[in-house]
Amino acid sequence: MTLLDIAKKRYSVRKYQDKPVEQEKLEKILTSAHVAPTAANLQPVKLLVVQDKERLKSIAKAGNIYNAPLAIIVCADHSKAWTRPYDSKQTTDIDASILTDHMMLQATELGLGTVWVCFFKPDVIKDEFQLPDNLEPINILAIGYGNDTTENSERHLKTRIPMKELVSYDYL
Ligand SMILES: Cc1cc2nc3c(=O)[nH]c(=O)nc-3n(C[C@H](O)[C@H](O)[C@H](O)COP(=O)(O)O)c2cc1C
Repeated sequence: MTLLDIAKKRYSVRKYQDKPVEQEKLEKILTSAHVAPTAANLQPVKLLVVQDKERLKSIAKAGNIYNAPLAIIVCADHSKAWTRPYDSKQTTDIDASILTDHMMLQATELGLGTVWVCFFKPDVIKDEFQLPDNLEPINILAIGYGNDTTENSERHLKTRIPMKELVSYDYL
């Protein structure tokens, strides 16, 4: 499968089998995060891998992860992130999201389903996982075996804005 095949195959899975993700697959997913680029290579990201049922319940107090057997809380480390000097923009969300996207696509290639979750209460995550002040939970990636349905890889022609609305060349 090419990268484009994987990107087209991926869809948000919101129903999971009660089946754990194999350790080798988890390690590949984490390696895909490890090799991701970050601004100035400062790597201001911490991944909290959650598989324990009680800890998954802690996440569920903050937001819906659809009973996935594995969730990775992608935290940004504000004490390490690069800041653009011109406008003081910190790249925390960008860095955290590149790692998240790498993991999501790697999981897809391994036959796993995922859903990217931002609709959660950050304070609850911080409290449940005792995150230090410098760590901000940015994304939660829920991962597991879906219910074996596949989505049509050409669905984006209908579910995405037209290419000509998305892209401009040379002039807006
Ligand atoms: C930044 C971001 C945040 C998202 N947050 C949630 C969420 O909290 N809950 C959820 O069910 N889906 C969430 N999604 C999934 C999107 O709803 C989904 O990707 C989008 O509708 C396109 O559908 P597809 O992933 O099946 O292609 C999120 C996706 C992104 C990229």
